[in-house]
Formats: sequence, structure tokens, C-alpha cells
Amino acid sequence: MTFNYIHRCFLTDAEKKSKDIQVVEIWVRQVRELAYDAEDIIDTFNLHVERRKNATIVWRIIGFWNKLMTLHKTGMLIEQFNKRSTEISTYKSQYNIHESVSMQDSSHRTERLVSKLATRRTTPLVEEQVIVGFVEEATQLAAWLVKDEKEPRRRVMSIIGMGGLGKTTLAKLVYGKREVENHFDVCAWIYVSPKYRVRDLLSSCLKQVRGSITIDERSHIEKMDDGELKIELHKYLQGKRYLVVIDNIWNIDTWDRISASLPENQNGSRVLITTRNKEVAIHADQSTQHHELRLMNKDESWDLFCAKVFSSSGSCPPQLVHTGKRIVEKCGGLPLAIVMLGGILIGKERTNNAWSRVLACVDWQLNQDSNPSREILALSYTDLPYYLKSCFLYLGLFPKDSDIKVGKLTLLWIAEGFVQVRGEEPLEDVAEDYLEELIQRSLIQVTQRKYHRGPIETCRVNDLLRDFAITEAKNIRFLDILGNKMYPVSARPRRLGIHSCDTSMDVNHSSASFSKLRSILFFDVTFQIDMWKSTFGGRTKMLKVLDFEGVNLSGGLPKQIWKLVFLHYLGLRNCFSVEFPPSIGNLVKLQTLDVRNTLLCSLTKEVWKLKQLRHLYLNSFGVINLDSMEDLPRNLISLEISSDLWNCMWQASVRFGCLQSLTLNGELRCPNKSLRNFFPLSILELHLEESVLEEDPSSVLGSLPALRELRLRNKSYIGNKLLFLPEGFFQLEFLELRGLQALEEWTVEDEAMSSLRHLVIYDCPGLKMLPDGLINVTTLQKFEISNMPNAFLDRVKENGEDWDKIKHVPSITCN
Ligand SMILES: Nc1ncnc2c1ncn2[C@@H]1O[C@H](COP(=O)(O)OP(=O)(O)O)[C@@H](O)[C@H]1O
Ligand SMILES: [Mg+2]
Repeated sequence: MTFNYIHRCFLTDAEKKSKDIQVVEIWVRQVRELAYDAEDIIDTFNLHVERRKNATIVWRIIGFWNKLMTLHKTGMLIEQFNKRSTEISTYKSQYNIHESVSMQDSSHRTERLVSKLATRRTTPLVEEQVIVGFVEEATQLAAWLVKDEKEPRRRVMSIIGMGGLGKTTLAKLVYGKREVENHFDVCAWIYVSPKYRVRDLLSSCLKQVRGSITIDERSHIEKMDDGELKIELHKYLQGKRYLVVIDNIWNIDTWDRISASLPENQNGSRVLITTRNKEVAIHADQSTQHHELRLMNKDESWDLFCAKVFSSSGSCPPQLVHTGKRIVEKCGGLPLAIVMLGGILIGKERTNNAWSRVLACVDWQLNQDSNPSREILALSYTDLPYYLKSCFLYLGLFPKDSDIKVGKLTLLWIAEGFVQVRGEEPLEDVAEDYLEELIQRSLIQVTQRKYHRGPIETCRVNDLLRDFAITEAKNIRFLDILGNKMYPVSARPRRLGIHSCDTSMDVNHSSASFSKLRSILFFDVTFQIDMWKSTFGGRTKMLKVLDFEGVNLSGGLPKQIWKLVFLHYLGLRNCFSVEFPPSIGNLVKLQTLDVRNTLLCSLTKEVWKLKQLRHLYLNSFGVINLDSMEDLPRNLISLEISSDLWNCMWQASVRFGCLQSLTLNGELRCPNKSLRNFFPLSILELHLEESVLEEDPSSVLGSLPALRELRLRNKSYIGNKLLFLPEGFFQLEFLELRGLQALEEWTVEDEAMSSLRHLVIYDCPGLKMLPDGLINVTTLQKFEISNMPNAFLDRVKENGEDWDKIKHVPSITCN
């Protein structure tokens, strides 16, 4: 398509140039506008086509005249478009704008990534982050935190330094130390942003210190006002020895408002803050240690650079050392700059020539501006292949310093059309590669994995990078943020992240400014749904992405939503309750429908008309209404539903050949009580809860050839014996046995679970001992035991009766 071609061939390359030549900048802007217009013309035309498809006969006849008008209008628009594009083309030769010589050879990187595909889904592509230095600092800080005999008062320690210096990294390191974790009764980590709301911080803190909470408790917390939250948190922390980390606190006022909820227990409770502002640290606690982070020296810088670029091999080939050191020098000891430049070089050929080209670019960039780190970020961005540019800019939509769920992020990328088809591979896998590549380039950091060295669960973006993404994205109207005073809303953005509704839903942004929106993502849960019509109403017909996560929708979704025929992603997670009218069947392009933790009052069969659906999450609904099951969407990749629904589907012989992730809650009624063939062979992740299985499911589950992650939770199995047969579960990497009240005996035969990396046993009060077979599971890296009876704990501790079976496991935690 033309606009895609323009985007790919000119836009990306020319964007680089736009930094130095103003003429090019203007030209780039014109091309961009042209591309947007092309997209609009095509989408508007498609909208008409879609509407006519759904019209009744009478309306079709009446619509004939309309059709002519539409064709005529579209024709005129295309004519204007062609004229403009010819003009713009002519400017290009007039002003002597050539396609730039790219300094990137990203193909090299992509090939390398593809060659790793064979091993990909079992081991993470990106090496674990290597942390250079910080050993002394972390030990010192940890010691300060846990040393309490002499000073029981609640102390507030701080890590101070400019952005990109590694404050969060150091705090995470300390927070993750075993001796720190074990020392405190409860721990919480909260991020602060300049545009924060105290209640969000308090509720996040409360949820963390309370541990796992039910949906009811969660909605109870959400309903509390600021005052109640403060009291509740204070009450909960009273008497406990707690550690609260407050990351990236900006001003004194913020501290004062949080501090009131953190009681003085005189028992060695601690607060650790990270900040750019020394005054905040001193104000919070005058008489304690503050750690001022310094820039890295030459050696540290070089070590960090090599760790980043040559990860496992570690050392730099001699012919590259000279150029490499010159590149590192440009970073002035700022870790963020070093990892970004390192990230660029990973994808380059390892020749002096290629590296010198990068060095030349750094020189060029630094001369433009006095702010080196920003320019290095710009360089890193410019170096991205065009498909990753969109993915990176998109991160700007998410609130500052928040943990981003990557499952959601990758599905959003797909819905937006950023992810390119690559042979037969599912787009979800390609998107995962994009993510890995951004991580490798240090544009994103991993914050949590689903299990030890397992798939990534959450990630975050450093705030300097995020600011950069927003500025860049606003410039090209790629996205905008509502409710952040730092960035006033620009004209007609394509995407909108709503961070705060209170200040923003005013007349300034009415009608015209939202007419081009393709995506809306809510991050402010206080949005009142009855504002929808007046704010977005009929002006957002071409939405592809709509995410209401957390917004209270019990008032009912506006009718307009069901007319959004281009919608690819509809997020209704944690939205209290919703209803689906039959008109949901209009959303024929929907790929993801996420209704997790939202009560669905009834399930209309029209949902099954959505043939493009690949990810369906409905974990709580009242009435099932399923007359016809024949035409279910067959290409589902992830599915989270009640077991009742699964039982019905199974009986109606519905089978999903590509299902990878399945979560079922409730009693499973399999024919003859046999699970055989009850789950598709393609399953990678299986999560069963309350299934009330009487027969041991191990032999069936153990023979699922691709199963990687298994969670058997609360009464999923009510028998007393589990027998893992020889060579069963041979791909399994993660196993969780949780709340299996009746389980007494677990046997693991030879060669079973030969890939297991992470094992969790939680609240299985009848389990007498560990299986002998664990001794052969040499791949096991992490073993967590929790809520188990003392007799069991006695056996697994050092020199206990079961110790020999697990002493080869590097990390064992019991509590
Ligand atoms: N000592 C270190 N070793 C390895 N990487 C580091 C180190 N310090 C910082 N980094 C990297 O630099 C970047 C910025 O660090 P971050 O902790 O987010 O900085 P800050 O919180 O001070 O803004 C991150 O990508 C991080 O991984
Ligand atoms: Mg930080």
C-alpha cells in the first residue's frame, strides 16, 4: 500500500536526516502528513463498506445514493492526494534530498535472532542483566537496612543521583537480597511519578503488604477514599517490621504525604527512597546515611560496556578495543548512556569499520547538543529498524515508572499493526522477538519473569527514555497523553493515553482534536463512563485499540463501542461488571477480548462470531447461553474461561488446534472421568483451579508434549497421590502445586521433569515428604516452599531427612 511504502522507504531514513537539515525536516513532515491522510482515506472508505455490509435491504436501497457520494468524495480525496504526493516528490529532487546512507545493518541482528529460534521458547534470548560494580554499595546499604539493634527508630535512607545513574538498579539489588527480604515482616516497592496520586501509591503499597488478595478485597480497597486508605495502611503496618522502597520521589510534599501512613514502630522498620533531589532525602531524614551515587570511572564504564556487548564471552577482541574505548568515553560515565550505546553495537558487525561508523555518529550527535545523554538516546532510537521505532514510541503511552505487563503490550503491538508477518510464525512470537530486541538494546528493562529464567512477565522503561519517546512521538502525532501538565495535548494525535481525567476532559480537547484517534488506553480508573459520549462520542469511529482496564463500567458501556468495526483489541479487565449485547458481533476484527476479573452478566452467542479472536479471557460470568457452538473461532491462542464453558465446548466437539495458554476455573467434567484428549496437544501453559479432579491427572498432563508451565491450584486435584511417570513432563520448566489439601504422596520416577527449572509447593498440608526422584532433577534452579507444616519443613532444611534430594538446587526458600 502506498502509505506503508512511504513510511518504510522515506520516513525512517529521512527522520535521521531531519535532525540536521531543516528543509528535510519540513519535507519529512509533509510526507508524514501524506501517509496519515492516505491511511485516513482508506479507513474511511472501509468504514463505509463495513457499514453497508450490515445494512438492511431498505437501507441498502436508500444507501445507493450515499454510495455514489462516498465514491465521489473518495475519488476527489485520492485525486488531491495524488497531486500532493507528486508535489512532495518533486520537492525531494528540487531540494536535493537523497536517501541517506544508513549506519545500521540491523539485518545482521535479525538473522542472529532468527537463528536462535530453535531454542527460543525454552530459554530466554536475552541474557540476564549483568550488574557491574555496586557490590560494596549494595552490601553497605543492606547492612544499614538490617542493622537495627542500636537504632530501632524508623529510618529513611536514600540513594541520590541524576537520571540514568543506576539508582533504581541499585535499590532493586538491595531489595532482592535474601538477608534483607528475610529480615522484614513485610516489604513493598512503590514507584512515584511527578503526576502521581497519593491514593494510587497508598493502594499499591497496601496491596503489596497484604500479599495475595481476593477480587472482593481488591474492590474494597479501590472504594476507599484517601483518608481511609491512609488509616488502613497505617493500621496494617502497625507493629510489623516493614521495608518500603519509594522509587523516584520528586519532591518534599510527596514524601510528607506518604510518610504519614508509615508508622513509627520502634522496631527497625525502614524506608529506602531513590531521588534526584538531595533536599528530599535530607528532609525525610536528617540524621541517617544518604548514599550519593557517583558516575562510573573509566574501568567500570569499560566493564559495563563489554558485559553489555559481549555478554557471555565477556571480552572485547583486541582490534576493537581502541575504537570501543573511544565510544565509551563519550558516555561520561553515565550507565544509561553506556548500555544504550552497547545495545546499538550488539547488532553491528564486529569490525573496526562498523564501529568507527558508530563512533562518527556519536561525535556528530554530541556536537549538536550540550546534553550528551539525550543525544545518545536519540542515536539509539535512530538506529532502530522502523518496525521497532513504533513499538518503542508506544511505550510512551504508559505511566511513568510503571511495570508494564508484556503479555498485554505485545498484544497491543499486534493490534496496532506494528508486528510484521514472518513466514508461518504466529505474530505473538514475532512480537516477543521485538520485545527481546528492545531489551537487548537496553530500551526496556525486564522487571519480572513468570518463573526462573522463564518468559518475561513485566518490564519498565527508564524515565529519561520515556520522556524521549513522548517528545518524539508527540512531534509526529503518533501519540499523546491526557492529564499530564508537563505535556499539553497536541492536535489530532493517533493514540491517546489517559493518565488523569480530572483536569483534562475539558472543552479544549473536544471534537477536532480526537477525530483521528486510532487507540485509547485508560490508566486513570476514575474515568466516568458517562463522559464517553461527550468526550469521544461519535468522533472515534476508527478505533483499533480500546483499553478500559480498571475503569468502573457497571454503569454500562456506551452503545457507540459496538459500532467500532475496526476494533482489534478491547480491554475490559478489572472493570467491575459489563454486559455484551448481540451487537458485539459487529466487532469482526477483534483479536483480543480481555474481560478478566470483570463480572460478565451474560454471554451472548454473538461472541462466537468473532472469527479473528485469538485471545479470549472471561473468567467470571453468571449465565451461560450457548446454543450454537459450531462456529467458534478456531484460532484461539490463549483462553481463560470457566470450566463449565470448557466442558460444554468439549461436549460439542469444539477443538482448538493452536491453543497455547489455557486457564480453567471450576469443576471439570470429563467423560468417564478420563482427561485423555481433554487438552490440546499444543498447550504450553496450563493453569487449573478448583477443577475437583478425583483421578490423578499426572499421566495425561505429563504426556502433553509442549507443556512448559503447569499450575495446579486450590482443589484442582482432590486425590491423595500424584505419580509422575518416567520421562513425563519432559518440557516442563515450571511447576506449582498449591492448595492441594488432600495430597499426601508425590512420586517422581526416573527422567520425569527433566527440564524443570522452578518448583513451588504452597499450602499442601498433607504432603508428607519430597519425592526421592527430585534428586535426579538436576536442572532445578529454584525451589520455593511456603505455608507448609513444620514436620515437612524440618525434613527439607539443611541436614533434614529430605535435604539430600534437593541440596543441588542453588536457590531454596522456605517460609
Ligand atoms: N551498575 C550497573 N550495571 C549495569 N547496568 C547498570 C548499572 N547501573 C545502571 N545500569 C543500567 O543503566 C540504566 C539506567 O539505570 P536506572 O537504574 O534506571 O537509573 P536511574 O534509576 O538512576 O534513572 C538501566 O538500563 C540499567 O540497567
Ligand atoms: Mg529510576
